[in-house]
Amino acid sequence: MRMNDVKTNDARTNDAKANDPRTTPLQHRLATRDDLPALTVLMELAIGELQKPYLNPAQIASSRSIMGLDTQLIDDGTYFIVEQDGQLAGCGGWSRRATLYGSDASPGRDAALLDPAKDPARVRAMYTHPAFTRRGVGRLILELCESAARAENFIHAELMATMAGVPLYRACGYLTVADVSDASGGTPVPLMRMRKRL
Ligand SMILES: CC(C)(COP(=O)(O)OP(=O)(O)OC[C@H]1O[C@@H](n2cnc3c(N)ncnc32)[C@H](O)[C@@H]1OP(=O)(O)O)[C@@H](O)C(=O)NCCC(=O)NCCS
Repeated sequence: MRMNDVKTNDARTNDAKANDPRTTPLQHRLATRDDLPALTVLMELAIGELQKPYLNPAQIASSRSIMGLDTQLIDDGTYFIVEQDGQLAGCGGWSRRATLYGSDASPGRDAALLDPAKDPARVRAMYTHPAFTRRGVGRLILELCESAARAENFIHAELMATMAGVPLYRACGYLTVADVSDASGGTPVPLMRMRKRL
């Protein structure tokens, strides 16, 4: 074998590693308003595809009115983006404000600031692109949210989980507070209020 052949094979091995989801590192940053178009596409895909094992079509349609992004999170600097190989893999955030869940379009939002000594921080709007599921994107975002909330002296984190989100939150230590049903989009959608000590 000639030396050039060896180098070519090494280069191929490195290329293969770079494209391997198990070895390419996940990168994260805070979202900005410039990310909104890409985030909207990702959320639409995640809501439509990843809820199929848990909800029927009428429930998924109804869930659209209670899911999506609250742009307050971007403006507050509490909304994360995870990328892999420069591609948007997932997003999610936390909040020091009272609203527990919902998008810009949801009724009854409350921007009041929480008291870290007695109120739980909120975990909000977690979405992974269907092509990037089960690679630890959701887990990474939760860790980022929890450590940021801890740094602001929050003792607990709370969230309203979709049925698609429950396995992730359970795996990350969240416990059920209450089973909930939200019919604001027409068909009732099952949800679960969950909490974790940080
Ligand atoms: C919920 C969601 C964000 C999870 O994202 P993800 O990046 O695939 O999650 P992770 O890869 O970090 O999963 C971490 C762990 O959670 C659990 N988990 C996550 N998704 C799961 C699933 N579909 N089934 C079973 N367990 C699951 C597993 O224990 C997993 O660890 P493992 O892969 O080593 O077994 C994603 O499914 C999603 O976008 N769903 C649709 C939108 C939605 O409902 N968001 C939640 C709003 S509250």
